[in-house]
Amino acid sequence: MSIVKETVMEVDQAVSASVRPRKLLDYIGQNQVKSQMSVFIQAAKARGQSLDHTLLCGPPGLGKTTLAHIVANELSAQLIQATGPGMDKVGDLAAILTNLQKGDVLFIDEIHRMNASVEETLYSAMEDYKLDIIIGEGSSARTITLDLPPFTLIGATTRSGLLSAPFRDRFGINLRLQYYDYEELTDIITRSAGILDVQISGLAAQSIANRSRGTPRIANKLLRRVRDFHQVSSSELEIGQVSADKALELLGIDEHGLDDMDRKLLAIISEHFNGGPVGLESLAASLGEEKGTIEEVLEPFLIQSGILVRTPRGRALTAKGSKIAGLTTVSY
Ligand code: ADE
Repeated sequence: MSIVKETVMEVDQAVSASVRPRKLLDYIGQNQVKSQMSVFIQAAKARGQSLDHTLLCGPPGLGKTTLAHIVANELSAQLIQATGPGMDKVGDLAAILTNLQKGDVLFIDEIHRMNASVEETLYSAMEDYKLDIIIGEGSSARTITLDLPPFTLIGATTRSGLLSAPFRDRFGINLRLQYYDYEELTDIITRSAGILDVQISGLAAQSIANRSRGTPRIANKLLRRVRDFHQVSSSELEIGQVSADKALELLGIDEHGLDDMDRKLLAIISEHFNGGPVGLESLAASLGEEKGTIEEVLEPFLIQSGILVRTPRGRALTAKGSKIAGLTTVSY
């Protein structure tokens, strides 16, 4: 069972990578981020220097990793990928840093989850391209300093508020990705469909875009599931709106882009806590989910859509949220 699951995941990841734009020009949306990056990349290239360290913030699925790949590509540099939680010892970071080549781009995803001692070791590497390593213990401990080649650190975070101020200040470029609008998502779906050799009508692409929560990763995932549904249930070559809507209904995604988990969250706040406010701990316990998943994955879109608010006393439904919670049926 786990093997099959892994295989499906690998296939999906490979497909995600294939639809990922590789140049800034092919990247749809995030216009302000794109124009800023374009200037900074051109300037760094013209000076023959490495790009300043860059922090990319924003909810999951908006294209932070994609952007890091594009930056490396535009700089004709090698991209080395790591994750904050994956480097729990200073030695893990040292191994990566000492293998860097001049101009490399080091991408650290979920950088807010890096442990404090690793983070502090990164400071001098970012500032002076120097790595201080302590060898030995107690009175015989000594520090050796290694020179590193100039490199660019790109950090990605869904929780920039969790980064310490000294860390955040060491990034010369600080960019925040925004949710995409429907036109941008429709364009992304149409572009991905072309790459995947899937024929889809404009209205069907819009239907998917409307339910993608402002997020390209979701849009591309829904496109692949709609394609599967259409393939087994229709003999038509092109995916039309009716087929797309049926598939989206089957996937349990409503016209607001909410899935079962979102609806369950709304129903719990509405029915168990009288619409809120309710503290995150209680909500997580009732929902049977991690606090982090609620904060980082579920909530941002619900807040952005005016369905949920964070108050000093906890989470509460807005009038729009109450209306949706009252109208939806929840399967739990
Ligand atoms: N695929 C995923 N994100 C994309 C974007 N922003 N532009 C084009 N294709 C994408």
